[in-house]
Amino acid sequence: MRRTISVIVTVVTIMAAAAPVAAYAQTPDGQDIYNRRCARCHKEDGRGVPNKYPPLAGNPDAADRDHVIDVVTNGLEGKEILGVKYDRKMRAFGNRLSPEEIEAVADYVVQLSKSAPSQTPTTTVPAGEGSVANGEALFVGTTPLRNGGPACVACHAAGTYDRLGGPGLGPGLYTAVADYGQGDLAAAIADPPWDPMIEVFVDRPVTSQEAADLAAYLADAEANATTGGTPVDLLAVLGLVGMVVLFLFTLVVVRGPQRLYVQKLRSAR
Ligand code: HEC
Ligand code: HEC
Repeated sequence: MRRTISVIVTVVTIMAAAAPVAAYAQTPDGQDIYNRRCARCHKEDGRGVPNKYPPLAGNPDAADRDHVIDVVTNGLEGKEILGVKYDRKMRAFGNRLSPEEIEAVADYVVQLSKSAPSQTPTTTVPAGEGSVANGEALFVGTTPLRNGGPACVACHAAGTYDRLGGPGLGPGLYTAVADYGQGDLAAAIADPPWDPMIEVFVDRPVTSQEAADLAAYLADAEANATTGGTPVDLLAVLGLVGMVVLFLFTLVVVRGPQRLYVQKLRSAR
């Protein structure tokens, strides 16, 4: 009897001791990695963002484990996915995730690919929440962002505002609410998936209230948009300036050597 008890005690002790070891040796949690690293763009349910980030749910190529591992490891650019060409590329995660993590997230993506993409975006902030006036003030910087990030207008045009930093810094935000949905847009402003913004806002994030206000302002600006002629005009002006510069360049660089050549010919006579 005592022996049986001691055997049981020993077995239980070994099991208790082994449990944490087993937990430690567990494979990485693919869903957790997905939600932290991928869902910003491909969304939690894998539905993607129309014309910006491809869906993984209902995407047959995302059911190909080797392909997913390759994309996550090396990134992807210029692929037409389910009839849509994406102008953004996906960057490589090969140096940010271990091979085990990449395999785990690939397994999760394969699973996700077999689910139907949800039709209705899950909104984290209900549309209509947030103050348009506060959002506009934050956008142009008359109210500074609480954590000290730069005002959006430094890099973005929206509504009747042009970007201060000149074109090229960030895209015009004329269709962001239509593209992302107001709730998802607010979530994305607070935790941006866009590389340049990650860098700028990582240490000084936009708060969720600020993000809701900004999304409300952008929704309002979109709803009241006229034709958004400003960026086109600006582009036209830039195009003209570019042509003048090119013309001068041709004069100096191309005509210069030509003249030298003519002089050489003359002196050779
Ligand atoms: C910053 C946004 C962004 C993030 C974050 C991101 N992706 Fe992507 N992903 C894209 C874009 C954009 C494409 C499409 C590229 C193209 O068309 O060439 C893409 C394409 C893919 C594809 C290819 C689909 C196909 O049909 O071939 C897979 C698979 C994929 N991503 C998985 C992931 C996984 C897994 C993660 C997380 C580890 C992740 N992505 C994180 C933007 C992102
Ligand atoms: C330092 C410059 C910079 C600042 C400041 C900045 N952004 Fe951006 N933002 C960018 C760049 C660059 C991109 C985009 C790129 C891309 O195409 O991947 C971007 C992308 C976006 C997008 C996605 C646009 C699209 O068409 O998909 C939204 C929305 C956005 N920013 C909102 C904001 C808001 C709101 C603020 C203010 C809190 C802000 N940004 C501040 C540079 C900036």
